[in-house]
Amino acid sequence: MSISSSVSRGADYFKRNGLLATLHRAGLAARRALFSSRMVLFYCDVSTLKPTTADLQSLPKVERHTNQIDISPHDLQEITSFWSPKLARRRIKERFELGASLWLIKLEDKLAGYGWTLQGHTVEPHYFRLGTDDIHLFDFHVFPKYRGQGVNPSLVGSILRSLAAECQGRAFIEAAEWNKAQLASLRRTPFRYCGSARKFTFLRRTMVFWHESKTVEREHGKQLNQASIAATGGQGSGISDLRR
Ligand SMILES: CC(C)(COP(=O)(O)OP(=O)(O)OC[C@H]1O[C@@H](n2cnc3c(N)ncnc32)[C@H](O)[C@@H]1OP(=O)(O)O)[C@@H](O)C(=O)NCCC(=O)NCCS
Repeated sequence: MSISSSVSRGADYFKRNGLLATLHRAGLAARRALFSSRMVLFYCDVSTLKPTTADLQSLPKVERHTNQIDISPHDLQEITSFWSPKLARRRIKERFELGASLWLIKLEDKLAGYGWTLQGHTVEPHYFRLGTDDIHLFDFHVFPKYRGQGVNPSLVGSILRSLAAECQGRAFIEAAEWNKAQLASLRRTPFRYCGSARKFTFLRRTMVFWHESKTVEREHGKQLNQASIAATGGQGSGISDLRR
């Protein structure tokens, strides 16, 4: 996130929650950036997923949107009012312009959470280059009153099954190592661990430092040599090869 975005988010947080809460939040963000900035990366071979055997009627409703027009104003308001509305609206617009899809999950017709997907590339510099068929899942959010009820695994599972019909590549997602809720949640999805790494972007160059990527090599070495997960970073990106 850019410095101006962080400042704008901080200002909105201050308006809503006051000085003490903002200082506490800023301290937490600084501690996470300094001491737990590592990300845990996961992958899923979507084409190997089997169609669900559950009764589709009993599953929560999941909607896919590829533009803002058909998102209900109420849902849009819910999504954007959580942090900085102005920033959130700008991000949504930018993401749709890049070709991303926004997936909404609803319980009893009420918005319970959402997540984004983008095929072939990522919004921000990533840890490795995606193949044209690969899909990045990012920015998942479950509204507080629905947390701990399996909403996120249900949304992620539903997205992966939908993508299986149209995508021959791999899906990727990552979670910060401090985000125990997201890590626990991803364990309930078809995603599998593929490594952990840190990345830094400085003067438009991204450097990636892998902490661990051997599990995938050991368990999936054969596929890894052929698959896009092994791709190196873009020209001059400084993004390292996952196999190193
Ligand atoms: C991470 C997140 C998407 C998980 O969604 P979820 O639908 O609650 O996921 P699950 O139901 O699988 O619960 C996962 C874990 O959340 C934690 N959890 C349970 N109840 C909770 C509650 N009321 N509030 C917060 N966290 C809770 C638990 O650790 C749980 O794991 P456990 O059951 O093994 O103890 C959600 O907590 C969230 O939106 N967090 C803020 C945004 C975020 O971190 N997004 C992910 C990074 S992009």
